[in-house]
Amino acid sequence: MRGETDRLLGEAPSFLKVLEEVSLVAPLEKPVLIVGERGTGKELIASRLHFLSNRWEGQFLKMNCAAIADSLLETELFGHEAGAFTGATKTHQGRFERAHGGTLFLDELATTSTLVQEKLLRVIEYGEFERVGGSRTLTCDVRLIAATNVDLPSLAAEGKFRSDLLDRLAFDVITLPPLREREADIEILAEHFAVSMAKELGWEYFSGFSPEAIDLLNSHPWPGNVRELKNVVERAVYKTEAGEPVETIVLDPFESPYRPASDNHGSPAGPKAVPQTSFPMDLKSHVQEIEIATIEAAMEEAKHNQKKAAELLSLTYHQLRGYLKKYELVGSGADN
Ligand SMILES: Nc1ncnc2c1ncn2[C@@H]1O[C@H](COP(=O)(O)OP(=O)(O)OP(=O)(O)O)[C@@H](O)[C@H]1O
Ligand SMILES: [Mg+2]
Repeated sequence: MRGETDRLLGEAPSFLKVLEEVSLVAPLEKPVLIVGERGTGKELIASRLHFLSNRWEGQFLKMNCAAIADSLLETELFGHEAGAFTGATKTHQGRFERAHGGTLFLDELATTSTLVQEKLLRVIEYGEFERVGGSRTLTCDVRLIAATNVDLPSLAAEGKFRSDLLDRLAFDVITLPPLREREADIEILAEHFAVSMAKELGWEYFSGFSPEAIDLLNSHPWPGNVRELKNVVERAVYKTEAGEPVETIVLDPFESPYRPASDNHGSPAGPKAVPQTSFPMDLKSHVQEIEIATIEAAMEEAKHNQKKAAELLSLTYHQLRGYLKKYELVGSGADN
């Protein structure tokens, strides 16, 4: 199954440090919070925490808290009694009951309702909860691992997340480095994903990447992290002829001359002109020019408010900071 067999690859010092932290905290019975940008491997780390713990023979259940409506989330986590609501004909065991003796992984828990947060706090503190529609108090022995890609302390400071729950959840916090901070790992991961894809395509061997392709992979900032790299590499491999080295890397699958224009970039002056395409060209610097022009246009539109510019670009604040640093665009405006 995915997670159990998937190997966590990487040799970058920042990544090895995370693996050490994981081994250290895994045998404890305490909750752990995993923080990291999207696609950095939070789910794989959660699974590793479980399988390195003393509960490894027990259940490892997952729940994506952002994927379902609040009322359903409550019944999914804590179960419901027969007759709790229309259609509840039978008693339903929630994830906490089913994970008894094992680990429950709560993914994307930042947006959970106050009610669910209250129940979570109680189950962490006392191991106690009630099924929806029930008055009997049940107990369970479950280790919680939670993950999020947002900054929970800021949410708590804004009153959008319970501080007491955050304190309990965050006995220890494991923060995964973004891929752009793990430069040594880009090639290792790319090779791994390419070899798997080649196997899937029935190729006898994988002939590697061209030096230009490697340069491009190494210079992209990977806002979608390992997941984005995996997609980009798999797409590049299947579009390459069997036995040939991979030369063409398309970072954006939406790239097309016929792509419908977006109408929500309301700058009256319009975005800065995208550099013209003419061949021969250096793809890498062309892509960089586009990135720089787009970021500068967004910064202008946002009146140099970096948080706002990040929103305009669907980036996190830290991702935008990464780009600004990379292209040395920092210092041109107030950092607010
Ligand atoms: N170190 C790694 N070695 C091998 N594969 C990895 C590694 N890290 C992540 N992956 C792969 O990248 C993809 C994304 O990983 P995962 O789902 O764990 O990320 P995530 O942080 O939970 O993302 P999201 O925030 O979007 O839920 C998966 O296909 C996973 O197998
Ligand atoms: Mg995830």
